Amino acid sequence: MEDTLQKNWTPTSWLEKPIKQLPEYPDQALLDESFETLKTLPPLVTSWEIEALKNKLAQVSAGKAFLLQGGDCAESFHLTKSSKIVNMVKVLLQTSFILIHEMGVPVVRVGRIAGQYAKPRSQDFEEVNGQKIHNYRGDLINGFEATKEARTPDPRRLIEGYHKAGLTLNFLRALADEGFADLHHPEQWEMDFMKNNQYYKEYEAMVESITKAVRFVDAISPDKFATLQKVDFYTSHEALNLYYDSAQTRKVPRKPGFYNLSAHMVWLGNRTRDLDDAHVEYLRGIENPIGIKVGPPFTIDDTLKLIETLNPTHEAGKIVLITRFGKEKIENGLPSLIKAVRREGFPVVWSADPMHGNTFSAANNYKTRNFDHILDEIKSAFAIHRSEGSYLGSVHLELTGDNVTECVGGAKGLNESELDINYETFCDPRLNYQQSLEMAFLVSKEWKQSYS
Ligand code: PEP
Ligand code: CO
Repeated sequence: MEDTLQKNWTPTSWLEKPIKQLPEYPDQALLDESFETLKTLPPLVTSWEIEALKNKLAQVSAGKAFLLQGGDCAESFHLTKSSKIVNMVKVLLQTSFILIHEMGVPVVRVGRIAGQYAKPRSQDFEEVNGQKIHNYRGDLINGFEATKEARTPDPRRLIEGYHKAGLTLNFLRALADEGFADLHHPEQWEMDFMKNNQYYKEYEAMVESITKAVRFVDAISPDKFATLQKVDFYTSHEALNLYYDSAQTRKVPRKPGFYNLSAHMVWLGNRTRDLDDAHVEYLRGIENPIGIKVGPPFTIDDTLKLIETLNPTHEAGKIVLITRFGKEKIENGLPSLIKAVRREGFPVVWSADPMHGNTFSAANNYKTRNFDHILDEIKSAFAIHRSEGSYLGSVHLELTGDNVTECVGGAKGLNESELDINYETFCDPRLNYQQSLEMAFLVSKEWKQSYS
């Protein structure tokens, strides 16, 4: 307790601060009731898993491992389905195998999963049929349907979100334990799409080699494969709806401090990182690893203060600095940020989010991203870190294991006129299964050029 008393912090001290990106709930009594109920429900993750992740991230910040963070932009309650979860775990696992194989270092997997239900928006309201209604802010806050009723913030969604996260996590844990028979079959690696790519031969050889390695472990010790892969899979979401996060923020026996037990890691979005606001106030009190999204507009000074506020003891593995400049702005912005963070001696994990600065509207109005622009930002990020003598230890991707048509480009050459074939996202466009595998392969090529 002393530590938090000294900090003058409680899980709800954020309520005293200006709250951005969270609309007021019209029914205060229902909010109180939902919040109190959520406080009594069992935790989704444990403090020792959180500490284990922090230790692994410390290895990443020391240049000895790599962090892959990825998943949906926004999960939806009604898509809490077996096939979605299987496909997501499969794509995250396969991309991580590509990274491990190519880089030869351990890869820490963190999904944007089992709680990624709340979204920041640029506008609070929109007008539909002459009526002003709340913008959709993710299933944790309101409904997608464009009616006044569905869009009214509903605190019962806090409980529903908890249940959906629990169901997702339960299945995820079972799959991560031993559900991956899929991986043993080379045909599951779907290589044909790479045929038009200049790296096809290399890619084919890599898949062959991974398949052999899996078979080998399987052959010498049939039970081992599952055990070797056990659990090394963590969850994360944006700490945006602070009612959800703070109701699940608890003390645990025999450990100091408070843990957010709704996810292993949470991140601070680019639009909620003002030093004097509620989100920073909440995050400065928890023990979990914290991601900080940094992109324009920001100042170096405020970013340094933010890191100091969230990690005053300079604990390694605590802060993942996720830069998201956009391919045009990264050259100008990243070098001075790296220099400043190094000058302060902050032990951060550097991560590149090449997605959020590279979104545009296609001619047919679909919100999309171009595979080549995403890759450009990745390449620039590696080149800049390399020339600054700094370790880029992570990528942050929006991806799915499904065969969607949301981002253009990639080996298959998806074009803008094909976006409507299978455009499913409720928020930002994601790399599909094939684009994700290809991106992992290209990311590892950049990493190898920089660090091996
Ligand atoms: C996101 O990660 O989905 C997101 C909204 O990112 P950012 O805060 O970087 O815009
Ligand atoms: Co997004």
